[in-house]
Amino acid sequence: MKKILITRKLIKESEEKASKTFKSIFNSNDEIYSQSKVIEMSKGCDGILTSLTDKMDQETINKLPDSIKIISNFAVGFGNIDLEAAKKKGIAVTNTPEVLSNATAEIGILLILGACRRAAEGIESARQGGWKWSADYLIGKQLTGTRLGILGMGRIGQKIAKIAKSLGMIIHYHNRSKLNDDKEDGATYHDNIKSLFSVSDVLSICCPATKETENMINKETVEYFPKGAIITNVARGDIVEDEALIDALNRRKIYAVGLDVYKNEPNLNPGYLKIKTAFVLPHLGSATKDTRVAMANLAIDNIDEFFKTGNCKNKVN
Ligand code: GLV
Repeated sequence: MKKILITRKLIKESEEKASKTFKSIFNSNDEIYSQSKVIEMSKGCDGILTSLTDKMDQETINKLPDSIKIISNFAVGFGNIDLEAAKKKGIAVTNTPEVLSNATAEIGILLILGACRRAAEGIESARQGGWKWSADYLIGKQLTGTRLGILGMGRIGQKIAKIAKSLGMIIHYHNRSKLNDDKEDGATYHDNIKSLFSVSDVLSICCPATKETENMINKETVEYFPKGAIITNVARGDIVEDEALIDALNRRKIYAVGLDVYKNEPNLNPGYLKIKTAFVLPHLGSATKDTRVAMANLAIDNIDEFFKTGNCKNKVN
C-alpha cells in the first residue's frame, strides 16, 4: 500500500475511503501545518493530499523527500502549488474539477444576489431591530434585464451563466478563446477585458488564479466598468487588487461587492469590512457535504489512478 500524508482533516466517509486505499497519515486536530512540518511529515510517504491552505511553493517542493511522486490537491484551484517546481522534481499535481461546479456556482449566484440586493445591510438591520419598512428602504439593484459579465467561462462560469439567465440576466463573457455555440448558450463573447468590463453591470469572477489573471481588477481596470457596477468573486483573491477595489467602492464607482475569496485568507483586507455594501463570505464555494465528499473521493482516486497507471486524467502539470 502507498503511504500518503493527508494534510487536513477530511469528512469521516472520506477518511474511511483513504484508510482502505492507502496507509494514510491523518490530521485529527485539523491543525494547519507549517511548510516545514509538511516536509517533515512527508518523510517516507509516496504522496501528499493537500488543501488550498497548504502553500506548496518552490522552496517547499524542493525540500520534499524524493519518494513523493504526487501532490493531489483537494480543490479545483491549484494556485497554492508551484506547478513548475513540482514538474522539475518529477512530482505530478492533480486537482478536483467538475465535482464542485454546482456548489460553487450556487455561491456565485448568492454573491450576485447578496451584493445586488444589499443583503449585508439587510441582515445587519434585521439583527439590530428597529428598522422600518418604507417605499424606498434598502433599495437594491434588480437582476432582471441586467448585464452579467463572466470573467472565465469554464465549468463554473457556464453554470453561473445558466442560472443567471433564468433570473433574466443578459450574459457577456471573456475567455482566452470563444466557446462553441452550445457552451456559449446565447452569451456574447468579448475578446478582451476592457470590452467585457465596459458592459458589465455585474461581474462574476470565475477564472483561475494565474500569472496572467493576478490583479486583473486593478486601479486601471476598475475604471472600465459602468458607474455603479457590482463585482463578485467566487474564484481566487489573487485576481483582485484590494486597495483599488476598496477605493472604487468608497468613491461609489463600484456600488457593491460580493466576495467569497481573498488574498491572505482568512485575513481579508479590513477596508472591505467598513463598506456597508460589501457582502462577504468565508470561502464557502464548495462547502456542502456531498461536494466535499465528492472532492475528497476524487483527490483519493487521483492518487490511486496515478500509482496504478502512471498517469491521471486530472493531472495539471
Ligand atoms: C475551492 O476554492 C477550490 O478551488 O476547490
